[in-house]
Amino acid sequence: MYGEFVHLMTIQSKREGECMKTLIVYYSLEGNTQYVADKVKEKVDADTLRLVPKKAYSDKGFAKFFWGGKSALMAEKPELEDYNVDLSKYDRIIFGFPVWAGTFTPPIRTFIEDNRKALAGKRFSAYACMAGSGGEKAINKLAQFLEIPGFEATSIFVDPKASANAEKEAQINGFCVALNQ
Ligand SMILES: Cc1cc2nc3c(=O)[nH]c(=O)nc-3n(C[C@H](O)[C@H](O)[C@H](O)COP(=O)(O)O)c2cc1C
Repeated sequence: MYGEFVHLMTIQSKREGECMKTLIVYYSLEGNTQYVADKVKEKVDADTLRLVPKKAYSDKGFAKFFWGGKSALMAEKPELEDYNVDLSKYDRIIFGFPVWAGTFTPPIRTFIEDNRKALAGKRFSAYACMAGSGGEKAINKLAQFLEIPGFEATSIFVDPKASANAEKEAQINGFCVALNQ
């Protein structure tokens, strides 16, 4: 009984923002998702984990879209380079990914599959980077894969690094405000 009370109090104090620890888990092929991760990291005081597939996706020409698109459509789970993270230290995970063929990128799929147990019960937010369309669908697919009803905060950025402007910077700041609420 007392144990349960303490547990509830701990959850309560975390929900009020005290000592809440956040990890941004992201994949980025061409730097846009990383650009947002770096900015959010400063503003919400988060740690970051960049996922790196053992076999790198091509970042050039036809091969980039063909192999990346195929991998996303086939819901592949590419092997990742080793990472060292203790997920039990974090209350909240923010996923960041580029939209590929209307869905979230395969390295995120691998990470979730490999850490399902450790991710259970966390708070989740997410952002997507895209060139034109599919962000909302991709975020919904990610929620489905995580088996959660939805994310606390989400944002969809259109090539925020490759075509940066004041409006996109403001959008990143707005996302950080939502994350800090
Ligand atoms: C394989 C592949 C598939 C893509 N599919 C989409 C798509 O379905 N919709 C879209 O708007 N952008 C698509 N893009 C563009 C990227 O999502 C977009 O440029 C994003 O900002 C790149 O993020 P990054 O620099 O972190 O890799 C695709 C890019 C690649 C490489």
